[in-house]
Amino acid sequence: MTHILLIQSSSNLASSVSRDLSETYVNDYKATHPDTTVTERDLVSSPIPHLGVDLLGGFFGKPEALTEAQKAALALSNTLVDEMMAASLIVIGVPMYNFSIPSALKAWIDHVVRAGRTFHYTAEGPSGLVTGKKAVLFLAAGGVYSNGPYKPYDFQETYLRAILGFIGITDVTVIRAEGLALGEESAAKAKADAHARTAALAV
Ligand SMILES: Cc1cc2nc3c(=O)[nH]c(=O)nc-3n(C[C@H](O)[C@H](O)[C@H](O)COP(=O)(O)O)c2cc1C
Repeated sequence: MTHILLIQSSSNLASSVSRDLSETYVNDYKATHPDTTVTERDLVSSPIPHLGVDLLGGFFGKPEALTEAQKAALALSNTLVDEMMAASLIVIGVPMYNFSIPSALKAWIDHVVRAGRTFHYTAEGPSGLVTGKKAVLFLAAGGVYSNGPYKPYDFQETYLRAILGFIGITDVTVIRAEGLALGEESAAKAKADAHARTAALAV
């Protein structure tokens, strides 16, 4: 049985390509694996706070000395970590904003990348604790970053692979829809190609 954690981070609730692709994938996956269960975490419809004073205090304070606000901030972080740990497949829809990921997704990352919970320090250096899981990322971008002059500006896939790998998620598949702002023909081809790759992935 697969339990999917579906994370959405596009602020476009009407016509987002990353939402469309990731939802299509999850629906296809459920059709071919009927016992699949899904938890959805929409970081735009239900935003989570950025890493602030209370969460930082909650991370590093003595448990018996935490304020109510620190306890509440830590409780949300614990819930998000538990949600990730419960999933066997993590699916993330990600628009490119300013060459990187949306701040809403970065806020989620800041809640779940935690020493002692999702990674730990060993004599050989940090080691991920979120093992045995797969991730599928659906990336959307106006320009082209997989090759060409803007490749060095890609802090979307490179960052996500790095941070997921850091906590132990190394089985990562990426479906890109890129060149969406380069004219109608380019956008139509990017979407069709990404949908074809998405359909092939869910079987
Ligand atoms: C605030 C903002 C910043 C963006 N920055 C970039 C960028 O740096 N590079 C790029 O190629 N496209 C950029 N875009 C275009 C989006 O990546 C593109 O519209 C993509 O389809 C968004 O994903 P979505 O359709 O899932 O919402 C930006 C769009 C917005 C709204």
